[in-house]
Amino acid sequence: MRCSVTVTRFFRNLQPRRVEWEAGLNCLTGPNGAGKTNIIECLHALSGWGCFKTGASPVAWDSGEPSAYLYGEFEGEESVTVGVRVGSRTLVQCGGRRASWTNVRERVPSLAFLAGDLSLVEGTPGVRRAFLDRLCTLLFPPYAWKLSEMRRALRCRGMLLKQGRNAAMTAKVLSPLVSWIWESRRSSVAMLAAGLERLSDLLPAPLEMRHARGGGGGADDPLEDFARGLERYGQREREARIPLVGPHRDDMILTNSGRPVLSLSRGQRRRTAVALMIAAGFAVEKTVRRTPMLLLDEIAAELDADGHRRTVNALLSSGFQVFAATAEPVGTDWPGGVYVVEAGSVRRVG
Ligand SMILES: Nc1ncnc2c1ncn2[C@@H]1O[C@H](COP(=O)(O)OP(=O)(O)OP(=O)(O)O)[C@@H](O)[C@H]1O
Ligand SMILES: [Mg+2]
Repeated sequence: MRCSVTVTRFFRNLQPRRVEWEAGLNCLTGPNGAGKTNIIECLHALSGWGCFKTGASPVAWDSGEPSAYLYGEFEGEESVTVGVRVGSRTLVQCGGRRASWTNVRERVPSLAFLAGDLSLVEGTPGVRRAFLDRLCTLLFPPYAWKLSEMRRALRCRGMLLKQGRNAAMTAKVLSPLVSWIWESRRSSVAMLAAGLERLSDLLPAPLEMRHARGGGGGADDPLEDFARGLERYGQREREARIPLVGPHRDDMILTNSGRPVLSLSRGQRRRTAVALMIAAGFAVEKTVRRTPMLLLDEIAAELDADGHRRTVNALLSSGFQVFAATAEPVGTDWPGGVYVVEAGSVRRVG
């Protein structure tokens, strides 16, 4: 799917203007604080992921309005409009009808790669889990619901352990959820690995990856593994008074030619992270049969001329619609639309 038009009203610092977007690569450039990330956030919300959790209201401060309005027209596998009201009361519409965020994500899939995701390669396991969760949410429709059920059961388990009480009952509820989530994550990592094979020109070195279950007991079957994990770490859990077995402790282990990815330079790690993002796009395209949009905030920083060229080539040949924000100047050779953002106003210049 591709976004052809957006209109915003009272949304952060953006001027209420209709903007037409390019079907391929879109580059948003302009000074710091201009509103580039706000446009990425607008597309993030219009593709069913909601606003960023910044703590501050997304409604323009000086507007005196209770809500902000976002509207987008999408084309590709189908033509559909999405309208979102955010602020005091959220309302989502898709194809002119009231819809849920999930409905929108299914019809207009997007993958966002934001400033914090840059640590996908070298950051904590939590960053990689969040990345896998987003991917699995798009790949497997019940994923978001099962994940929230699992988190609820885990909180309950955590509470019982903290109070020194018997938490065996929660294991019964957790078992099917944990094994389903482990299986989903395993299969998404396998799809990512397959996608990376198409990105050897972007990857600085061959990348191996595997899903590591948090506190698994060494069995292949996820249900069995969870049971064995609980047996093995039960005593330690009671002592630590926190749940030690389950998807909340998973990781995606990345190595390049058998060596830790941390041996890569910063620019090389960034290229690896972008490759993972595009590979995630391939997985979505193959599974849900819709091309996702890629929303990329500040991915080009730290890339040298060669890294930059390889990244642009990989994005271009993916066939995805891409929105890339950058505070750096854009060369005249950018193979797509160039939009200058200044004080919340968006203007196409190339
Ligand atoms: N609710 C709001 N109402 C009005 N302005 C807002 C609101 N929320 C954020 N802003 C302003 O929007 C401006 C643009 O922010 P944004 O993060 O999009 O900039 P940017 O172009 O991405 O900058 P950078 O290059 O530093 O990443 C900021 O100056 C911020 O103060
Ligand atoms: Mg920004």
